[in-house]
Amino acid sequence: MKKTKTQIILLFLLLNLSHSLSISSHGSLSDNEVRHIQRRQLLEFAERGEKVTVDPSLSFENPRLRNAYIALQAWKQAILSDPFNFTANWIGSNVCNYTGVFCSPALDNRRIRTVAGIDLNHADIAGYLPEELGLLSDLALFHVNSNRFCGTVPHRFNRLKLLFELDLSNNRFAGKFPAVVLRLPSLKFLDLRFNEFEGTVPKELFSKDLDAIFINHNRFRFELPENFGDSPVSVIVLANNRFHGCIPSSMVEMKNLNEIIFMNNGLNSCLPADIGRLKNVTVFDVSFNELVGPLPESVGEMVSVEQLDVAHNKLSGKIPASICQLPKLENFTFSYNFFTGEAPVCLRLPEFDDRRNCLPGRPAQRSPGQCKAFLSQPPVNCGSFSCGRSVPSRPPVVTPSPPPPLHYNSPPPPQVYYNSPPPPPVHYSSLPPPPQVHYSSPPPPPQVHYSSPPPPPVHHSSPPPPAVIHHSPPPPSPEYEGPLPPVIGVSYASPPPPPFY
Ligand SMILES: *[C@@H]1O[C@H](CO)[C@@H](O)[C@H](O)[C@H]1NC(C)=O
Ligand SMILES: *[C@@H]1O[C@H](CO)[C@@H](O)[C@H](O)[C@H]1NC(C)=O
Ligand SMILES: *[C@@H]1O[C@H](CO)[C@@H](O)[C@H](O)[C@H]1NC(C)=O
Repeated sequence: MKKTKTQIILLFLLLNLSHSLSISSHGSLSDNEVRHIQRRQLLEFAERGEKVTVDPSLSFENPRLRNAYIALQAWKQAILSDPFNFTANWIGSNVCNYTGVFCSPALDNRRIRTVAGIDLNHADIAGYLPEELGLLSDLALFHVNSNRFCGTVPHRFNRLKLLFELDLSNNRFAGKFPAVVLRLPSLKFLDLRFNEFEGTVPKELFSKDLDAIFINHNRFRFELPENFGDSPVSVIVLANNRFHGCIPSSMVEMKNLNEIIFMNNGLNSCLPADIGRLKNVTVFDVSFNELVGPLPESVGEMVSVEQLDVAHNKLSGKIPASICQLPKLENFTFSYNFFTGEAPVCLRLPEFDDRRNCLPGRPAQRSPGQCKAFLSQPPVNCGSFSCGRSVPSRPPVVTPSPPPPLHYNSPPPPQVYYNSPPPPPVHYSSLPPPPQVHYSSPPPPPQVHYSSPPPPPVHHSSPPPPAVIHHSPPPPSPEYEGPLPPVIGVSYASPPPPPFY
């Protein structure tokens, strides 16, 4: 009864909220609006009597589980719809038995249990995240991908000092970049993709010791800062935002980089001439931007690259043979540019797309008029873009590496069919070291699919990629040794993986 009333109040507040949002829907959320939303969230609690009252007849194993109870009850009250009844059993003091809640011995006291993981992926829950979630101070994983959570990320998340993986993807979070994530000292995996975040991205994000950054499919509008290259990430996906300006030349200094996706932004510089220093990159996608200049010869030194997509830019010049001879290259897409030549070896690649260029003798090229108009423009001076750091920090001499071997002894990379959306970052699910998992609680439901949202609308018509593709070596083992929920490190028999961007 009481709950129904709460829900009505909430619904009313949210309707109000969406009304006030629609007023400014053509602009960004201002600071005031964000504060307003946050106050609403708090206010709602104030109206209910500030916080969850704990029934004195309940007994708890330890005070941390009591705090967890308060946090989870507050959260339950902030839930407007839970169509699959995930939170139906969130009743009583045994929070470790709640669906989606995983307990583990506390890091600082192995004799007591504490809540170490929340996994409500794919629950389709509507609601918001209350500030009380900051009471889950031992939390290592917080996964709520593919729900309908809205509002902002609570400030009190700054108390989650052990939080290692934060997956808020595929929800309805809005407002500025949730700066609170920059204050989480243990965070390694940040997944904000498929939300409504907007504005700029703090440059501190790229100085933070993260292993994976997914901020694709938001409304970020931003110029990539020069400290971009400091990021130790192995995977970074910025696709489908409104980034513009340079691809920072510091990018070639990213020391763990494995996959990078810039797709569909407004980047309008040249590619860094020494991009060949990215020797471990397997997926490189700068498609659907406004890049100019040549495809640097040194791309032919990116010896690990499997998927290379530079389509839909304004690149010109000739495609060097060395690129098409890259030993692991499976798919090379360079359509919709203004290239005027390609080495014959390119035509022997397993998959390539050279349409809509200015390539003599090739089918489906641009019209002579288009080519002539473009090529009559003055040549691009890549040096004029000043995409570098103010003080160059790279070593002065880069010795060219030997030509890539044409045969290799290692087993061939798994087959990837790359007209379809690129594979999801599945390798990431093996990041936290499995051996340290000591779990007494039941495993999460089988459909749990760590760190990847479900298929959002896709503009490709081809079939989904094969189930699990490990096209990259496992990422370096992180230092983290804390509690982890089960299933991590296991390949899932999960539904078809989502598109990558
Ligand atoms: C959830 O619980 C409600 C009420 O008990 C029930 O009507 C509904 O069928 C349940 N939904 C699912 C998906 O189990
Ligand atoms: C919690 O789950 C465990 C294991 O499934 C069970 O033995 C125990 O009775 C449950 N506790 C409560 C209070 O439901
Ligand atoms: C590539 O990876 C290897 C092995 O992890 C590492 O030793 C090397 O420094 C990396 N090189 C670059 C350029 O990232």
